[in-house]
Amino acid sequence: MTREKIIIDADPGVDDAAAILMALASPEVDVLGLSIVAGNVALRDTVLNACKIVGLSGRRDVSVYAGAAGPLVRDQVYGKYARIGAFDDALVRAGDIGASEEHAVHFIVRSAREAAKAGEKITICAIGPMTNIALALVQHPDVASGIRQIVSMGGAFTALGHRTPWAEFNIYADPHAAEIVYRSGVPIIIMPLDMTFQALFTSEHFERFRAGGEAGNALFNLFSTFDRSDVGRFGRPGGPIHDATTIAWLIRPQLFSGREAFVGVQVTGLTMGYTYADFYGKMDRAPNATVITDVDEDGFIALLIERIARFGQGGLGVAAQGG
Ligand code: RIB
Ligand code: CA
Repeated sequence: MTREKIIIDADPGVDDAAAILMALASPEVDVLGLSIVAGNVALRDTVLNACKIVGLSGRRDVSVYAGAAGPLVRDQVYGKYARIGAFDDALVRAGDIGASEEHAVHFIVRSAREAAKAGEKITICAIGPMTNIALALVQHPDVASGIRQIVSMGGAFTALGHRTPWAEFNIYADPHAAEIVYRSGVPIIIMPLDMTFQALFTSEHFERFRAGGEAGNALFNLFSTFDRSDVGRFGRPGGPIHDATTIAWLIRPQLFSGREAFVGVQVTGLTMGYTYADFYGKMDRAPNATVITDVDEDGFIALLIERIARFGQGGLGVAAQGG
């Protein structure tokens, strides 16, 4: 089995926690490290949350790197649960993992250059505002040659936004960074709200996370505490776990389907953060992304639950490290 070398760029975040644990339990991916950005909450707290999650995973081979504390140009905005800051110790115990001294952008640049030299390009799973990635690409354009693809949870094309009526949060929080990434020439796979809203997790699913030992129980605590359901919007119980779709796509792409399109983002004015996809070639612009439009809800839910359960089966560290 060839293992995909990945960097997870995240702003933990409850759904980031699920994505990170899913990746750390999956031997199909080799997690080189977590580059952390401000987003759901302030950088100090996204770093603390990432360290807590890695600590629970037992994967002491994986490092956390602190990155950008705010967006490139626009004013700072945080997520819906900004007030929670760092995960309460009662929900996710504090561990002894600390962040690396190396800056996240430097880590991304170094990893991409090493990958290019080794002829084994890396995948970046972007599950927060894409500030770190944009900084790496702008400061060192050669970095693009070491990145195979960027799998980005972000944007809304046929769905309406949720942080504002017109924008998904990761893009809204740093639209200039998204524009840099979309224009970079690096292959982009986008997981928009259009698709993530199709897979809704309910309290019964969260209960099944508890088979995953301490890590699974922490996820149960987080998802049970921070309700993400919206019957008014979704018409049924449950809420999305947006970020985990990026990892699930890497592990089992057959659960997803999509189409190529030229994708862009509004970076100024009232609708800043609005994203559009030219699915029908109206702009005569070559596609710059694959937009994932559909997901097998049952398959994705079962895969996430199964991977979280691995934390309750002992010996994870060896298996997930491809041992
Ligand atoms: O819009 C959902 C995205 O915004 C997720 O990545 C969530 O963690 C927040 O970052
Ligand atoms: Ca996130």
